[in-house]
Amino acid sequence: GVNLEVQLGDLTLPNPVMPASGTFGFGEEYAPFLDLNRLGALVVKTITLEPTPGNPPPRLMETPSGLLNSIGLQNPGLEVFLREKLPYLRRFTPPLIVNIAGRTVEEYGELAARLSAAEGIAALEVNISCPNVREGGIVFGTVPEMAARVTATVKGQTHLPVIVKLTPNVTDITVLARAVEDAGADALSLINTLQGMAIDLETRRPALANIVGGLSGPAIKPVALCAVWRVARAVKIPVIGMGGIVTARDALEFLLAGARAVAVGTAGLVNPRAIIEVIDGIKAYLQEQGLQDVNELVGALRI
Ligand code: DOR
Repeated sequence: GVNLEVQLGDLTLPNPVMPASGTFGFGEEYAPFLDLNRLGALVVKTITLEPTPGNPPPRLMETPSGLLNSIGLQNPGLEVFLREKLPYLRRFTPPLIVNIAGRTVEEYGELAARLSAAEGIAALEVNISCPNVREGGIVFGTVPEMAARVTATVKGQTHLPVIVKLTPNVTDITVLARAVEDAGADALSLINTLQGMAIDLETRRPALANIVGGLSGPAIKPVALCAVWRVARAVKIPVIGMGGIVTARDALEFLLAGARAVAVGTAGLVNPRAIIEVIDGIKAYLQEQGLQDVNELVGALRI
């Protein structure tokens, strides 16, 4: 057989394919359609300290070139997550990655401390890249000093591996990547959604009540691949690549560009089994190519 196991610092994944945060909820909606134990990791929707209702609708809009969202971090909050979602997620074998966002640096720290005291969490993913909230989110992801402060604060409150999720909405993503690496991040995930908007000509109104949102899906794949390639060359820590991955071929491109693992987001909303097809397709490609180990493909782009 071929080896699909990859390492993100101290975190071992049985295979390099995970759901992208925010498209997977807390696993319950996907479970009827696929065996969650086959995934490389489970990644939940961003958790905030308090329950968050998110932005007013309409907040999801399909455009001809991708999906626009302005959800605004809707989630049930830390207490409900710990009490009602975590016990369910603990039944599965893949490592559980919990995505967090705070309105302040202190809130990121408190979330990290309280989640680290719980059982069954393998890593934290720090969301400093949500384009849809006024406090927190992208505010921390676009200023290197702020990104570093959030990272260092979370690191100071947890023994768990810390993955920091980066936004493409910056002039030079490698500057943010290096700042976060220097502050102690164990891995990076990129990209979060690309800021965008849509307008309805009949009503002459923005399609989203929030006016602007985040674009995802195949439209952003070239942007994501470019960001992953540049960041993977700029840092030593592992990179999780995402943005428009639908098929195994898309995922393989990210591995060649330097991603150690990948995430499937928007594609899972269209076809919940897309993530399984990506895992199976990577395995088939390795076999066809006569390769023994998926790690041989990481950064193996011929230049
Ligand atoms: O596009 C996004 N939408 N990125 C995030 O990080 C969060 C999400 C939301 O809830 O708005």
